[in-house]
Amino acid sequence: MRMKAAILFEQGKPRPYATTRPLVVEEVEIDPPGPGEIMIEVAAAGLCHSDLSTIENQRPRPLPIVIGHEGAGIVREVGQGITDLNPGDHVITVFASSCGNCRYCVRGRPNICPSGNSARAAGTLVTGTKKLRRLDGTPINHNSGLSLYAQYAVVARRSAVKIGKDIPLDDAAIFGCAVMTGAGAVLNTANLQAGEAVGVIGLGGVGMNALFAAVAAGAERIIAIDTNPMKLDLAKQWGATDTFLAGNEDCAAQVREATDGGLDTVIETAGTVPAMQLAIAITARGGSTISAGLPNINAQVSYLHASLVSEERSILGSYMGSCVPERDLPRLLGLYRRGKLPVDKLKTSSITFDQINEGFDLLSDGVVLRQMLRPNA
Ligand SMILES: NC(=O)c1ccc[n+]([C@@H]2O[C@H](COP(=O)([O-])OP(=O)(O)OC[C@H]3O[C@@H](n4cnc5c(N)ncnc54)[C@H](O)[C@@H]3O)[C@@H](O)[C@H]2O)c1
Ligand SMILES: [Zn+2]
Ligand SMILES: [Zn+2]
Repeated sequence: MRMKAAILFEQGKPRPYATTRPLVVEEVEIDPPGPGEIMIEVAAAGLCHSDLSTIENQRPRPLPIVIGHEGAGIVREVGQGITDLNPGDHVITVFASSCGNCRYCVRGRPNICPSGNSARAAGTLVTGTKKLRRLDGTPINHNSGLSLYAQYAVVARRSAVKIGKDIPLDDAAIFGCAVMTGAGAVLNTANLQAGEAVGVIGLGGVGMNALFAAVAAGAERIIAIDTNPMKLDLAKQWGATDTFLAGNEDCAAQVREATDGGLDTVIETAGTVPAMQLAIAITARGGSTISAGLPNINAQVSYLHASLVSEERSILGSYMGSCVPERDLPRLLGLYRRGKLPVDKLKTSSITFDQINEGFDLLSDGVVLRQMLRPNA
């Protein structure tokens, strides 16, 4: 079947993207779903910083590729052997695909299943296939087993979770990455309890969901930190008790002073080395620094080994918010229905394919939260 998709042919093109146009919208061929696969009509796909990092070449990927890993849509066709989904069902996509049988999957950690890594490196779905071709026959690689900057996507059955039709699909899309990652970091990785204090560094789509989840969990104090004052104003409106401007040397000292030596839990959602250094610096002795940001593939952060030991500090990674999607998406959507995860507030705009390069300029400038591509609008 023919459809439109935004293809990335080259990573690392300079800005402004409005001029260099790293994403090229073309007619492509998409194959029907094979065994264990489904075809969805993409209703909305978010512009996440991880997609920007792929455009910037922070992590090399097989090219050409269709990126886009945060979305929701409507099932249009199911492949052989699929009995639990039907055309017309609504789904949220899952960017960390899993096999279901490896030692990580069986221990309830499908988010770190290595099948996702091998599929990502090979540019395939987790089923091992490629579904997209240019009109001249050149195969196109998949991103995160999904490729959602397209009108349709064929994905592995395991890369989608069915949801109720009451959820607007452009809100549902945000659950596919920013909500699972940000809210999951607070509720799963940190296991934040009511009455505790937490810091969130980096208030983009991911960080704001960490903030919403901290409010929902009943945090007593929520310290929100960003380099952009506009994000601090929003965080205050949405439940932060204190805000601090990162980027000056005093920030760590100010937070430590305001928190009697630092916070027990700090979540880093900026994806930069300075943000991670700040996160470690404002974590109290005995506390946990949790990083959900994804920096350049070669970025290194150092810490004082002796204080790690003598102050019993922890540094933890959080990938897709340590979520088990089938378990956690219903729970997170339950919070949304109760108004506790107001992701509609994060939608800066709905855009079409014509605006996608400009959209990544705005994300890079840090002046937006979530821009939602509507590929069929
Ligand atoms: N762990 C995961 O599973 C996962 C999933 C999705 C995204 N990510 C990563 O999470 C990060 C955030 O994604 P996003 O889409 O919310 O990005 P975003 O661009 O919307 O937000 C990033 C925010 O960090 C702020 N920031 C930058 N440098 C900072 C610093 N030194 N101190 C404080 N704040 C700083 C920016 O001003 C911005 O508000 C990215 O690195 C992304 O790749 C990780
Ligand atoms: Zn993402
Ligand atoms: Zn597995």
